[in-house]
Amino acid sequence: MREKLSIMRWKSFLCFKSLPLIVGIFFVGTVYVINVYVIHYSLQLSPDSISSRPRLISGRKHESLYLDKDSTYGRRDSHQYNDIKDPDGLDIFYDTFKLQLLGIIKTPEDQRIRDEGYREHAFNELISSRLSFHRKLPDSRHKLCESVTYQSDLPQASVIICFYNEAWSALLRTVHSVIDKTPPRLLYEIIVVDDYSQNENLHEKIAEYIWNILPHKIKLVRTPQRLGLIRARMYGARIATAEVLVFLDSHCEVNVKWLEPLLARAAENRRNVAIPVIDIINSDSFEYEASPLVKGGFNWGLHFRWDHLPSGYFNEKEAMILPIETPTMAGGLFAINRQYFFEMGQYDSGMDIWGGENLEISFRIWQCRGRLDIIPCSRVGHIFRKRRPYGSPNGEDTMTKNSLRLAHVWMDDYIKYYFQLKPQARNINYGNITDRLELRKKLNCNSFEWYLKYIYPEQTLPDMDNKSPKPLKKYKKSQPARNKATYINTGWLKHKSSGLCVQTEGDIYVKKSLLLLADCIAGNQTQEWSETNDHEFQLSKLLCLDVESSSVSNSYARLMKCHGSGGSQSWIWRSQNKVSQLYNPASGKCLVPFHDAGTTYLTIAICTDNPEMSFKLQSNDKIPHGQLTM
Ligand SMILES: *[C@@H]1O[C@H](CO)[C@@H](O)[C@H](O)[C@H]1NC(C)=O
Ligand SMILES: *[C@@H]1O[C@H](CO)[C@@H](O)[C@H](O)[C@H]1NC(C)=O
Repeated sequence: MREKLSIMRWKSFLCFKSLPLIVGIFFVGTVYVINVYVIHYSLQLSPDSISSRPRLISGRKHESLYLDKDSTYGRRDSHQYNDIKDPDGLDIFYDTFKLQLLGIIKTPEDQRIRDEGYREHAFNELISSRLSFHRKLPDSRHKLCESVTYQSDLPQASVIICFYNEAWSALLRTVHSVIDKTPPRLLYEIIVVDDYSQNENLHEKIAEYIWNILPHKIKLVRTPQRLGLIRARMYGARIATAEVLVFLDSHCEVNVKWLEPLLARAAENRRNVAIPVIDIINSDSFEYEASPLVKGGFNWGLHFRWDHLPSGYFNEKEAMILPIETPTMAGGLFAINRQYFFEMGQYDSGMDIWGGENLEISFRIWQCRGRLDIIPCSRVGHIFRKRRPYGSPNGEDTMTKNSLRLAHVWMDDYIKYYFQLKPQARNINYGNITDRLELRKKLNCNSFEWYLKYIYPEQTLPDMDNKSPKPLKKYKKSQPARNKATYINTGWLKHKSSGLCVQTEGDIYVKKSLLLLADCIAGNQTQEWSETNDHEFQLSKLLCLDVESSSVSNSYARLMKCHGSGGSQSWIWRSQNKVSQLYNPASGKCLVPFHDAGTTYLTIAICTDNPEMSFKLQSNDKIPHGQLTM
């Protein structure tokens, strides 16, 4: 549809750039543009100019690295910050310890934000809302990237960020990170497309924020109805005017010098489409983790997957910084010449909401003589959620419909492999694809066979999988081998106010045994706790103190196999008004006794300064084994 734009508010007399737009579209239609172009070239958008602005309407301050409020959580001396140091010993400002304390639930309101955040956004919104919009990230690039220089006449970019019901904090952190990390001369504009979000007042809130805080280069537009991610991107692209379009998701944080290498690649040839490496922002803890260099592929169910690069690929060190030819892209993060984007058919506007568009544009780029590369020196963090928090308005399976459209247009006979895996898809209506078939003809594109032969030769066909000695392994996030635990303390885990000790109800070897408070006994393995430097509490160095933070009534603390990945088994000492408590970052709560039918079990609750929450790990070394002390 042809959108009409109306100016909701405009302030600056300096809006020379957008004057024609304003005149042309005043007060007609349903799309709001907060037009905030001021003078493009004279404004400095460095973080400094932002932080020198008045307090934000949300009451945030900008000085701190991570914490906007409550930045002084108590901590025990034996627990120093877990600063990650780079090999040269320089701090890279990445403080896991502070991050973990950020998720603490202090009030029922915090609990509500957390629960609602998980329900609506599938990430820990409590942490997101407390995290600075300007936090520093570890530079996840290879060292060699630091010495790469880029031409001085790089083209400018329009950064397009589409969102639907996004968490306010995640969206604004995305926008701020782009402003903070992008040289002003390269950032022509940021176009924020609100795809008709249903969240109460979200649009107005963001409009006001942008108006008050970020009145540079940012255009906020609202679609007149829900378009879905795919059409919303096209909508944003039509408004954009810079030479290169850069698409981002609405829950990203871009990293140092993220844009230059993408623009340099796009400038080399207008058919070059450049993709950053997508680093991982943990959806529970907001920790930032570098992704390994891999490339994009797909399976015959038409789902994207990561593929390893051939062994030996990185024998030459330079490969660490050179573009990596990739058969497909993972999603919506890429840079593309604007004219080229339109010439080669944008996206398929017949596709609904989301799904399949990344494969469609990937096949189209390659088959129609473009190229697609992952640029190792460009890093963008993305919150990887365990599920997509929203569906299509009518609950249709948009993934299947979209996959059918792309398969019918681009895959020729190879569509049979898709149907082999998804026979039920044969009967699903995928709409009219006449226009897309005409596009393919007009662009004189290569066949899918050509694509497989030259661009994705590693791909195997499903009926050959049995014969294939090594079918492609699914890319799995590499877990570092677990280091042997380092114990920093051993003794009783003593509940201070009662003087009782945490003990297992069952045998020390029995998983799922509940934990309870009992009289302290010296030299008894059922009470011998060891604290590790990974914040685990192991009983007799075997099983771990664990609590499932389900929302159902009571979550009992119990013994579980130590999994070494923190979460429900991570316990951090924290003090609140001299009450030293054990804080579990995964739940945002603290360990506390819980009386049940004459037995005192343990559970988790909102951390308070109630002495009932006070624990200590007390060495019982001096007491001869076997001797009772109470
Ligand atoms: C499909 O779309 C084309 C072009 O938009 C149109 O000419 C054609 O009539 C449509 N076919 C059907 C069955 O609606
Ligand atoms: C350890 O304590 C448990 C529970 O109180 C008791 O059943 C067991 O006999 C004790 N073991 C030793 C070696 O004292």
